[in-house]
Amino acid sequence: MTDTAVDTEVPAADQHPVGNPLSDGLRHGRVPLPSVLVIFGATGDLTKRKLVPALYALAADGLLPPGFSIVGAGRSEQSTETFREAMREAVAKYGRVPLREDLWSVFSDGMRYCEFDLDADDGLNDLAENLEELDRERGTSGNRIFYFSIPPSGFAPLAERLGREGLTREEDGGFRRMIIEKPFGRDLDSARELNGKLHLAFGEEQVYRIDHYLGKETVQNLLVFRFGNGIFEPLWNRQYIDHVQITVAENIGVEGRGGYYEESGALRDIIQNHVIQLMAIVGMEAPSKVHGETVRDEKVKLLRAVRPIHPDDALSHTVRGQYAAGWIDGERVPGYREETGVAENSLRETFVAMKVDIDNWRWAGTPFYLRTGKRLPKRATEIAIQFRRVPHSPFGGRVETPAGLLPKDSIDPNLLVLRIQPDEGITLRFSAKVPGQSMRIRTVNMDFLYGSAFLTESPEAYERLLLDCMLGDRTLFAREDEVEEAWRICTAILDGWRSQPPDREGTANYESGTWGPEAARDFMARDGRQWRRL
Ligand SMILES: NC(=O)c1ccc[n+]([C@@H]2O[C@H](COP(=O)([O-])OP(=O)(O)OC[C@H]3O[C@@H](n4cnc5c(N)ncnc54)[C@H](OP(=O)(O)O)[C@@H]3O)[C@@H](O)[C@H]2O)c1
Repeated sequence: MTDTAVDTEVPAADQHPVGNPLSDGLRHGRVPLPSVLVIFGATGDLTKRKLVPALYALAADGLLPPGFSIVGAGRSEQSTETFREAMREAVAKYGRVPLREDLWSVFSDGMRYCEFDLDADDGLNDLAENLEELDRERGTSGNRIFYFSIPPSGFAPLAERLGREGLTREEDGGFRRMIIEKPFGRDLDSARELNGKLHLAFGEEQVYRIDHYLGKETVQNLLVFRFGNGIFEPLWNRQYIDHVQITVAENIGVEGRGGYYEESGALRDIIQNHVIQLMAIVGMEAPSKVHGETVRDEKVKLLRAVRPIHPDDALSHTVRGQYAAGWIDGERVPGYREETGVAENSLRETFVAMKVDIDNWRWAGTPFYLRTGKRLPKRATEIAIQFRRVPHSPFGGRVETPAGLLPKDSIDPNLLVLRIQPDEGITLRFSAKVPGQSMRIRTVNMDFLYGSAFLTESPEAYERLLLDCMLGDRTLFAREDEVEEAWRICTAILDGWRSQPPDREGTANYESGTWGPEAARDFMARDGRQWRRL
């Protein structure tokens, strides 16, 4: 399967000591080689909310190899025991699976804490000693994953430090990999610069850039939906599809992260990574296999076909907005400029709508509309494929629509909705005859709900991605050229926005709890289309 996967046809009990809860489920899954995960930033939010709970869930599912170990590296002084206790509480609070004492005891045995301050000179001695000790005691054989869960300003210096101290070389046969979190730069130039610096210490094949959307079950199901079914692919092109809408709507505001958001905004925070990744999967050609570089190659080809938006055209291809005070779920909420850490005259966008044209044979003339925003009426991520109308309606008369009775040629076109969150599933909308003597037509929905079709619980995105990294499977991670292509699209918009700033009043242009600025509706109406009501 991959260079580091172990085939597990042999029952677990034949391979591992009986009674080891970490090996309970190793029967048919993919099992990585023993390794150490070093988490830089082990005292941070991501470590406790996502990383360690995900690792524990993998352990509970029997997917971690025996000997798997975690080294938490952090600035504060604390003992391994204190770190273990903090992680135990984190798993109990944030974990998908309940904490079990016998499993926790085995899992936490492989946990160490060591002090590390990026700004101090003595640096990594303590870490290097811990790693050697774990290799000796737990058979991790030099296999190491470095998780950069630190602020982005530390990514390049940390990679440089690890490289300088010889911790990234794979000469002993063990693997050395690094995982970083977005943001991968803040525009095209800084993304290229970051990639260049990472590559001084790590080859591209050692770099795993996490976009947690790609770890979601429903996003992976998109690949199965498109390429595991024969009936949709023949329709998946400009001839049958009128346009595609991708929406990532949040009902929350900046939630105490005003300072961070002032530096990023909706385009950098959501469109550049999550939404463009979804667009690439919806739009790409069929890969020859879903493994290794083939999927990433196809995604990059699609992104390269995106028509460049000249900065002068940024305003005609996008709508930006910022939430004003309003009501969400019956509660009064403040405007963006009233949030902590936000400048009272901030022009930062919390809403973006944009149109993307793809210049290839499959999509020419079929635009993709992307939108994201904070403080919208509900949390929802979905991809809507809007098919073309029937060329001619043979029914005559009138048809029932939500807008009343309309002529039959206004029969609603078919719509396929792929819901990513919260209620993961797929809906196909089509026309049906209303029972009765006359030929009345109405649209109905055929629904597939992930949760009720499969009774097993989906793993968290981080579980899948951490396991894939251990296995050396990079399919669901963003490659250097993908990230740069996504920045190419977004940087031109940022440049255009910068040279044509909104006036102060023009920015706080939508009330919290509404679907964004009026201009977003007009933007679609200009093309004779409308946003889907979610
Ligand atoms: N949290 C999320 O859900 C999320 C989502 C997407 C991306 N990310 C990204 O993931 C990374 C971590 O996020 P987070 O939310 O965990 O941040 P956080 O809570 O602020 O934690 C940052 C961690 O980095 C450590 N650190 C900071 N400067 C350091 C230095 N000079 N030397 C050594 N350690 C240093 C901090 O140590 P101290 O405790 O000593 O300050 C802390 O452990 C960031 O790059 C963030 O952008 C996070």
